[in-house]
Formats: sequence, C-alpha cells, structure tokens
Amino acid sequence: METTPVPPGVFHDVLTAPDRVWTPGANPVLSVHGDEDPQEIEAIQPWIRETVRLQRRGVDHGDWLVLNPEAAPAREDHPPEALLDERWYEARPILLPGFLKEPEDEAFALERFRTLSGDKGLRAFLTDHIPRLGETFAPGSNMHLHEAHRDLERIKLGGDHDLWVKLGRLSSHKKDASLRVRFSFGKEGPDDASRDIERHRLVREVAELLLPDARGLTTDPWLSEHLQRWVGGPVLPTQHIAYFNAPNGGALWHHDGFNEPLEGGQRGVLYTQVAGRTAWLALSIDELCHLVREFLEYMTEGDLPWVRERIAPKPAAFDRLVALAKRFPRLRRELGRPGGGELSGLIHAAPEFTALCADAGHAFLLGPGDGLLMPNHGLEKTVMHTVFCASPGPTYAISTALREDAEYPELSAMRGASAERARGGRNRGARRSRRRR
Ligand SMILES: [Fe+2]
Repeated sequence: METTPVPPGVFHDVLTAPDRVWTPGANPVLSVHGDEDPQEIEAIQPWIRETVRLQRRGVDHGDWLVLNPEAAPAREDHPPEALLDERWYEARPILLPGFLKEPEDEAFALERFRTLSGDKGLRAFLTDHIPRLGETFAPGSNMHLHEAHRDLERIKLGGDHDLWVKLGRLSSHKKDASLRVRFSFGKEGPDDASRDIERHRLVREVAELLLPDARGLTTDPWLSEHLQRWVGGPVLPTQHIAYFNAPNGGALWHHDGFNEPLEGGQRGVLYTQVAGRTAWLALSIDELCHLVREFLEYMTEGDLPWVRERIAPKPAAFDRLVALAKRFPRLRRELGRPGGGELSGLIHAAPEFTALCADAGHAFLLGPGDGLLMPNHGLEKTVMHTVFCASPGPTYAISTALREDAEYPELSAMRGASAERARGGRNRGARRSRRRR
C-alpha cells in the first residue's frame, strides 16, 4: 500500500483542491461513475483500499474509492484538539474511528434483524428479554402507529410511565428491508423535543437493557470529557434508535435538530456502527448550501444537462431553484425542511450531487466500532447527513440523541418565562419614558 500522495492527474487535482475538506481520522474518498480514463484509475490503484457501491431505493449513486490516508495528506496545521473544537462549534461532523471497544459481532446483529423482521417481530424481541426488562419496563399494549406507511409496531413499556418502543421500516421501497427500533416516551412528534429529563433517563435505562452496545457509548473517557466541555456539563444519551440498514436502504438527507432554544436542548447525535458498514455524507448545513449553489452553477453554465432535465425540466422551474439558492437564509431553511423541500429532487435523486459531495471531502465509511458525532446548535447550525448501506447484508448501528443531563423547564414553561421577560422589557420602556418627561 502506497504511503505517498497520489501522482498528478485528475484524482490528484480532486484530492488537493483548495476547498476540499479534510476530516481528522477519515480515509479520503473519491467518486467514480464508470466513465473515467482507465489509465487514471490504474495510476491510483496502489492507494485504493476498497470500492463501495452506493445503491439506495432503486437509485444508483455510483461507486466510491476509499483510499489510504496518505493519498491526500492533511493540510491543516492547527493542533488536532483545536480542529475538533472548531468542528463542534461549526456543527461539522466529528469522526470517532474505533471508539466502541468490542462491539457485538455480525451474527448477533443478524439474529436480531431476523427476529424483528418476522411476524410481530418487536413483540417477539421484547418477549425474549422479559426477565431483563422486569416489571418496570414490561411490554404492554400495542399503541397507535404515527406513520402508517412505515411504522410496524409500537408497544408500551411498563405501567408507571409513558415509555414506548417502536419498530418501523426506513422507507416503503419494496427492495429496502431496513428496519429501525426507536425508544421514546409521551406523544410521538410533540414530545420528541421534550425536556423532561427524568423520562429521558428512563429511556436511557431501558435502551441500555435491550441494546448492550449502548452502554459503552458515552462512558468512553475521551468522548465524555470532550462532550462535557463542549456542552458545558454532563451529557445524557437518550431517544436511542437501533438501525438495521440493509442493502438498497439508508437514510435520505436530513438533520436531527429541533426548533428550540439551544440551552437544555438536544445538543447533538452520536451514531455508532456496531456490525457491518455504512457509507455517509455528513457536513454542516452551511457547507451543504454552498455545494447546492455550486451544483446549480454548473448546470447554469451548461454542464450536466441530463440532470437539469431530470430535476427541473421547465426553464421556469430551474430559474426558481437558482433564485432560491441566491438567498442564503431561504436556501438553508429549504434544505432543513423535511425531505429538503423544493430541493428534494436535486439532493436525493441526483447521483451526480452525491458524487460532488464525496469529491468535496464529505464522505465517510463507518465500520464496526466507528462513531460519528453530529453536533447540533439549532436549525441554522446543524449537521446534514445521508446514509447508504455499504455491506452485502443487513448492518446494525445505534444512534442516540445527546442532551444536557440537568433539569430544564418544558418549553411551554419557558415560553411563559419569555413572556414575563417581554413584559419586563415594556416596564423598563415605561420607566425610561417617565424620565424623559
Ligand atoms: Fe439522523
């Protein structure tokens, strides 16, 4: 395996482009589509660790060449700690290679996937763990399904609280067998951003009973020390989701943020690969905005006519996208909407856009034990991400929301407090006007 930078050529130019992002701990990734010069591919062969095919919900997103780290040496001269700090505060992903020690093996993951895929799979899974769940979290009645097209089962846990666990598909595509198991409480949707720390602690407790690997997520000394420093206090992992991304599955572009005040809110998400591998694009929402603009510029200049024909066949529709992209706050808001709003066709269904993001340095491959930390500082400063299955069979991973482990009032109470402050403001205005008389 070569330990020098790749030789001059197209790939060298992509890897050394001044605006290509370098992420500590990541292997460089290049996108290929099958129409490259064979000699160029041959020239970088000694640097290629592996080739990953990206297929999701019937759409071919091309291949990624995963290279030796030395193929594109680090250009950053900041101390590594400072780089990580920057990434946290700029809401850019932080890669944690191999931080989960001794993850469960593939056989364990496959057995779980088989149980969950069967008839009433979630009930069967919980029944297998009744002794571990005890009376506190004993599986109870079936609950209403929030998203009828994807949800499969939702089951109440215990009797003294309103915890539940839900099994669902990741998409309704018939060739996507991916599943997810989500732990939460209260009303699905309205309570997703709840600040009830006691109930979040219960979610953690039950999730760690059923997902043994979840116990090691925030007990890692390096990670807990950094999270405490970045968040400003102890951090609680909660609202766990076990992901079983299967071939043809994965997640479309999205963020995990809520429209809520920063302090006391959800401060990030930690995704940890346990078995199998997933391929990711992850970057700050601002970085994604710039890449959307770049992509539209190429089409405006006459490149990628077939993409333009696919995503906006009528000139007026394309002009609308270009006008939208010129207004940065509007573009960011649109990308943050579920499904990417008006930009949905461009970001989800254009493999050429996937390739652009990879070539700009935002692609990662996660294997067993690797983590990806995604800071979140609100809807305008969050990590956008999209996931592909990179294994021939189902994979297994655990994602947890990270919250400050402290009492915070519910949002409704906080709104009341803001109203009080607003009234205080008017009083001060009145006092000032009296002095001016
Ligand atoms: Fe996510």
